[in-house]
Amino acid sequence: MGTTLALLPLLLLLLSLSIHVPCADAWGKEGHFMVCKIAEVLVFSISVAYLTENATRAVVDLLPPVAGGELAAVCSWADEVRFRYRWASPLHYANTPGVCNFKQSRDCHNAKGEKDMCVVGAINNYTSQLRSYGDNLTESLMFLAHFVGDVHQPLHVSFADDEGGNTIIVHWYRRKTNLHHVWDVSMIETAMKDYYNNDLDTMIESIEKNITDEWADDISSWETCNKRTVTCAADYASESITLACDYAYKDVEQDSTLGDEYFLSRLPIVEKRIAQGGVRLAALLNKIFDPLTSTIQIE
Ligand SMILES: *[C@@H]1O[C@H](CO)[C@@H](O)[C@H](O)[C@H]1NC(C)=O
Ligand SMILES: *[C@@H]1O[C@H](CO)[C@@H](O)[C@H](O)[C@H]1NC(C)=O
Ligand SMILES: *[C@@H]1O[C@H](CO)[C@@H](O)[C@H](O)[C@H]1NC(C)=O
Ligand SMILES: *[C@@H]1O[C@H](CO)[C@@H](O)[C@H](O)[C@H]1NC(C)=O
Ligand SMILES: [Zn+2]
Repeated sequence: MGTTLALLPLLLLLLSLSIHVPCADAWGKEGHFMVCKIAEVLVFSISVAYLTENATRAVVDLLPPVAGGELAAVCSWADEVRFRYRWASPLHYANTPGVCNFKQSRDCHNAKGEKDMCVVGAINNYTSQLRSYGDNLTESLMFLAHFVGDVHQPLHVSFADDEGGNTIIVHWYRRKTNLHHVWDVSMIETAMKDYYNNDLDTMIESIEKNITDEWADDISSWETCNKRTVTCAADYASESITLACDYAYKDVEQDSTLGDEYFLSRLPIVEKRIAQGGVRLAALLNKIFDPLTSTIQIE
């Protein structure tokens, strides 16, 4: 943990220097970093009553050297390889035919109609690869950590017609952008600026504080996964499309200007989804790497 903490300022510096790709189809780097950082804290923490020494060791062993022992450092890797790994780009999201529910058999495929090629299939795929010693476990871990973040971004499970809000042009305050980008990046950036002194670490601490106080009673229901399928990713996708309809798309049309009213009512959703992503990633990693001691048994 000591070296991990020592690296944090460097990582944050690298993050703040990085340029945002305008149309990146994921939570931005900050969102993914927070999801993984929260998962790490929970995985590494004994106070949350996880027995995860084994899981921690397994995760750290699989990380590439460039991660410096920190999962959060490679949580955006899957976005960085989007052009090299074209086949993987449908794995970041799922689309519904304009309806507010998710059906795996109907919605989880790529443009060629290949089954399971969506964010839910990918989470199941990389979970089972990690459990069965698949080809490249380092890649599987980096994909999994990223996609668990993506499935919690409401506009990553949303309508095919508007490409998850990418074709809905809006003004975020005075700046022209699109609705998808507002949810990936803009709300987090505005929150960082308005409330957290532009410091990602402060925002993470604040979300972690709510995990232990505000949401303490909800954590076990977030983690509970009694499905016989590999993971509960399909449930997280269902939550996302519901939130997309109830919050993200609600009262928005082409050329809408979104300001304080939208920001203040939607930011709590963003923060809670990041928290849920982190808690569930930790639970899933524990389940994969420490099945005997994790609270939930596999199958
Ligand atoms: C780690 O896993 C081994 C079996 O692989 C088990 O014997 C040991 O008790 C585990 N350690 C912890 C701290 O859970
Ligand atoms: C599962 O992972 C393998 C290896 O990365 C990949 O070739 C395959 O397309 C993936 N399938 C899904 C549904 O994610
Ligand atoms: C596994 O994937 C990583 C990241 O793409 C790559 O750097 C590494 O060379 C791969 N390892 C093997 C054995 O293919
Ligand atoms: C924490 O919870 C409080 C009370 O619900 C809420 O007002 C605040 O926005 C939350 N902060 C974060 C970072 O989740
Ligand atoms: Zn993504």
